[in-house]
Amino acid sequence: MTRDPEAPLSEEDIAAAMDLPKVELHMHLEGAAPPAFIRGLAKEKNIDISGIFRPDGGYAYRDFEHFLSVYEAACTVLTGPEEFRRLVQAVLEQSAENGVVYTETFLSPDFCGGCDLGAWREYLAAMQEAAAEAEAQNGITLRGIVTCIRHFGPEQAKLAARCAAETAGDWIVGFGMGGAENAGEQKDFAWAFDAAREAGLKLTTHAGEWRGPEEVRAALQDLRVERVGHGVRAAEDPALVEEIAERGVTLECCPGSNVFLGVYDRLEDHPIDRLRKAGARVTVSTDDPPFFHTTMRREYRDLAQTFGWDADTLREVNQTALDAAFCDPDTRARIAKLLEA
Ligand code: ADE
Ligand code: ZN
Repeated sequence: MTRDPEAPLSEEDIAAAMDLPKVELHMHLEGAAPPAFIRGLAKEKNIDISGIFRPDGGYAYRDFEHFLSVYEAACTVLTGPEEFRRLVQAVLEQSAENGVVYTETFLSPDFCGGCDLGAWREYLAAMQEAAAEAEAQNGITLRGIVTCIRHFGPEQAKLAARCAAETAGDWIVGFGMGGAENAGEQKDFAWAFDAAREAGLKLTTHAGEWRGPEEVRAALQDLRVERVGHGVRAAEDPALVEEIAERGVTLECCPGSNVFLGVYDRLEDHPIDRLRKAGARVTVSTDDPPFFHTTMRREYRDLAQTFGWDADTLREVNQTALDAAFCDPDTRARIAKLLEA
């Protein structure tokens, strides 16, 4: 029997959607750090960052700009490769609990030894070691996307791109950009993105989270990315949505993040469902889960409740994510089997 698409999903349908094996493409490693983990490190190292926590223990910030500075303050306790090894362990444990079987995470050489290449190699080795352990223990696969930070400027981005290019391979599979979308223009970072592309890396950049459709156009034209971080404000321009659908550009949507940060007032107002119906390749991720009080299971629950996305729809969304994953074909084939299970 087929389900009436207008009828609300049953509790059983929602649970089935939440229980699916999941692919996540857009998560910032430091932004996924549980607050208790960061507080613990601060105590160990005697670093006072008490101002970034709320009385209930969560991260405290007022708006997006403040979020970025709280994020950077949290990173000050991640002082060496060992801290990043522990961070990867803690984050992948959470992801695996949420049914994530494959995840790509943004890694920032800026927070790993200040973009010094020798230091970056050491941080990376520690993170890869933790990822291999998590894969053996929980069956979760991690790949890294080296990320420059927009408000640190184009010169610093070149250093991050050099770290990316020098370590590109089966594990570092992409290059991207996060940070304040109002800092400079996408084209200011073209040198860094060209260097990463020449090293064989796949590309993504945050665009159309805060700025409008013109920013998504700039990402596609000036940086020639194949995926866009968020990209949701493209929905304001039907011709652009058509182009995104035709070109097969994948949008790394993070609905909970957008609602929590106030890009949209309510999930009902979020364009993810409209974009999908218009043929855009949409995927679902958490961005910085503890900052936005979300998890992959919660994202799936909320999409099921709000838009009636059932397990079949979310299976399709996961396949879209896997098709757009930056990993090698063998890894993709292996994960495809896990999604079928
Ligand atoms: N860095 C971490 N989270 C981010 C977001 N949502 N937008 C831009 N940069 C980020
Ligand atoms: Zn992001």
